Order: sequence, then structure tokens, then C-alpha cells
Amino acid sequence: MNLQALSKIATELVAPRKGILAADESSGTIKKRFDSIGVDSTETNRRNYRELLFTTNNVSQFISGIILYDETMRQQGNDGVSLVKTITNNGMIPGIKVDKGAKPLAGSRTETVTEGLDGLRERLDEYRELGAKFTKWRGVIEIGDSIPTQYCINTNAHALARFAALSQEAGLVPIVEPEVLMDGTHDIDTCMQVTKTTLREVYYELGCQNVALEGTLLKPNMVLSGKNADNRASAEQVAEKTLACLMNTVPSSVPGIVFLSGGQSDEEATINLNSINKAAKSAAAPWQLSFSYGRGLQASPLKEWSGIEGNSKAAQDSFYQRAEVTSAAREGTYSA
Ligand code: 13P
Repeated sequence: MNLQALSKIATELVAPRKGILAADESSGTIKKRFDSIGVDSTETNRRNYRELLFTTNNVSQFISGIILYDETMRQQGNDGVSLVKTITNNGMIPGIKVDKGAKPLAGSRTETVTEGLDGLRERLDEYRELGAKFTKWRGVIEIGDSIPTQYCINTNAHALARFAALSQEAGLVPIVEPEVLMDGTHDIDTCMQVTKTTLREVYYELGCQNVALEGTLLKPNMVLSGKNADNRASAEQVAEKTLACLMNTVPSSVPGIVFLSGGQSDEEATINLNSINKAAKSAAAPWQLSFSYGRGLQASPLKEWSGIEGNSKAAQDSFYQRAEVTSAAREGTYSA
């Protein structure tokens, strides 16, 4: 493993003003997103939509890297150039989601464990040859009646660490994503407790499996009230609890934390990221606090596009604008 090379890529991904676009929706998820705008999820439509995002003029001043799905990794744009090459030519770093999704966890009634470890070493070699520089794996932890169980947390943390170790062996920076879902009516303190327990276990496993933290990034949820909770916590409370949670669990050798947007609206995800970065200045947080948003960056351009080629420019403008405000939030300088 060349730790210096891994650490350089990790640092570039969280360079000042920059964050990551997650465009790695699986076939099932992108179909749901396309259904919401009444567009068929054909390979051509998926390609056209994603190409439009990747070729947005000057968006690389806000976007450092893009996470792709396997299909996109192998596609060419309308100009016959591979989309991976286009991303690189436009000054951004291509990455790849390598997990195979959350599947029912044996011995648990409702929880899941993320699969994809079998054959991963060979797939990672192929992705590196195709041009990927970093990888992502998402474990899912749900809050509900008597869940999460420690069993579910441990199993997902173990798989995340196995993924991270294999990824570093292949020369690819792993983005470790343990997502505590915001679905539910729980309060922010419950999210705090579950996120803390999860991150502790994740860093325990990463340590056990010899993962070099300098060559990784963490992609966590923010500490939030449940989506359907009464009296949802304010942005200031979200910032305070999120920072307290991370300061207690994430080693300072991790170069950056790139939040997912989860089920937040794009505006909510922007305001909370801004509030976290404002608070981080006085808390002397040791890591970069940036973003790796899917819906948080794509909700507006997706709607603007709506599958109509003539809307491409407007969709790009909308993507540029979301990237610009999210970049400001990443600096703690956003104002509505
Ligand atoms: P969201 O920002 O829409 O949660 O997507 C990020 C992601 O990559 C989830 O795995």
C-alpha cells in the first residue's frame, strides 16, 4: 500500500471549498428518482442525465470527485469519450460504489447487512484499471422499536472494515459510510447515541483490520431528529450534537468527513452543513467537514431536466447553483 498516494487523494477530495457528488444510485434507486419526474429509466436516459451533470461548466471549483455506479463506469458520453475520462478532463476525480446493497441480516427480524465482499479484490483491480481513484461502501443502521441491535452494528462495521482494507490494498481510497437513517419519530439524542455507538464500532474494526486512517474518508449521517419527529432540532442543535458525536468517536488522523444528505431536503442539508462548519471553527475540529451529497445536489437539477433534452442547460445551471451554495456551506459562509 502506498499510503502517501492514498492520503494525497483523500486530501484532494476534501480540498477547501470542495466536496463530492454522489451519482452512484443503483439501478433500483435511479428508477425511483426517474419515476418521480415521469422518465423511463433506460440506459440512454441514465447516461444522458449523468453526462449533463459531469459536463457542467466550471463545476469543478466546487466538486472534487464523483462517485459512480458500475454501469456509468463503463459508459461513453455522446462524444464517444468514456464518462470516467470526461470527469478527469473536467478536473474531478472518479470514484466507484463497490457494495452490492443492504440485504436482510440473518437472525434479525428487520435489519440489514451490506453485501459485496465476495470477489471484491478482483472487482477493485478492474475498477482501478478503469480509472477509479476511490471507492465507497454504505452500511445501513435503522432506528426503531428495539433496533438497532449491537449485532447489526457489529456486522456492518466488520464488513465496512473488510471493504476498507481491501480497497487500500488495491490503491483506492475507501469512503467508509455507516448511515444511521433519519426515518422515524426518534429525537436527536437517540440519533446521537446510535451514531456514537456505530462510529465507535466502525473505528474499532478499522483498527483491528489495519486500515490506515490517513488514507480514508468518513461519510456519516448528521446527528438529526427523526424525519417525522415532533419539534425537530434546530440547525444550531444539529451542529452542536454532530460535532460532539464526531469529536468523541473519529480519530484526528482521518483527513475528512463528508456528510451524506440522507432524507433531508437540499435546503435543509445546506443549512445544517453551514451550521456545522460555523461551529467547527470554535470547536477546533481536526478534520475537513465537507459533503458527499446525492439528493442534496441532484434534487433540483433532476426536476429541472425532467428527461427533456432542451432542458439540459437549465438543469446544469441548477446543478451549478446547488454545488455553489453547498460549497459555501462547507466553508460556513452560506446565507439564504
Ligand atoms: P444522499 O446524499 O442522497 O443520502 O446520497 C448519498 C449517498 O451516496 C448514499 O449512499
